[in-house]
Amino acid sequence: MLGFAKKALVSEADSPAESTGPRHVAIIMDGNGRWAKKRHLPRALGHKKGVEAVREIVRYAATTGLEALSLYAFSSENWKRPEDEVSDLMGLLRAFIKSDIDEFAANDVRLKILGNYKVLAPDIIELIEDAITRTAHNTRTTLAVALNYGAQDELVRAAQAAAAEGAITEEAITRHLDTADMPPLDLVIRTSGEQRLSNFMLWQAAYAELWFTDTLWPDFGPEEFGRALAEFTTRERRYGGR
Ligand code: IPE
Ligand code: IPE
Ligand code: MG
Repeated sequence: MLGFAKKALVSEADSPAESTGPRHVAIIMDGNGRWAKKRHLPRALGHKKGVEAVREIVRYAATTGLEALSLYAFSSENWKRPEDEVSDLMGLLRAFIKSDIDEFAANDVRLKILGNYKVLAPDIIELIEDAITRTAHNTRTTLAVALNYGAQDELVRAAQAAAAEGAITEEAITRHLDTADMPPLDLVIRTSGEQRLSNFMLWQAAYAELWFTDTLWPDFGPEEFGRALAEFTTRERRYGGR
């Protein structure tokens, strides 16, 4: 009886993900630099191609019924890169929001930012906040872009907010994470052959499935994304139970 009750509790919370595919997928979009290097092109071109891959993946995700897609675009550690590369990435971010926001708005995609974006350039903050406002009521898919995001920083902020309210509990921390209004994370994908989380979604990934591919991010497309989603449905998730 006890076993049955426990099992029922787990399946109640998680059966949508198991039977119909993941609800929330996070992607560590890595390998832009190596993609460019292989072709003897400037790194900036790799990042530009990377943005094109983002566009295709977001379009595809919206057609799959995925509730949420989180994309690691710029980590809190990426400031360590040379100034010109950071500036190229910020320029691409600016251009991407400007060129793609109408499509998000039209396709019922809600934009959200993970990480402390308030330290970005004032014009980027304005573009971001305008895009968030314009898409706030959209319900088809949430696109969460991680900018100046680091999971350790997110956890410190969440713990501080929880402490200010009272006890620091798992529930309170979860409620104060940047992902608070998103479904639980089901699947983490990382491209480019690296098999690490690089400070992404450390709390949320506790029981997420992990999927790695050697494909460099600019070459990652809907077909391979579809394969990852399909493979997810074959994984047996146990959450420590049996
Ligand atoms: C991912 O590509 C993009 C960002 C981290 C912004 P990289 O720039 O890390 O590409 P590699 O890892 O050097 O190939
Ligand atoms: C992770 O990639 C960050 C993003 C994809 C934005 P990195 O290229 O920064 O990660 P490391 O340095 O190889 O761990
Ligand atoms: Mg990298």
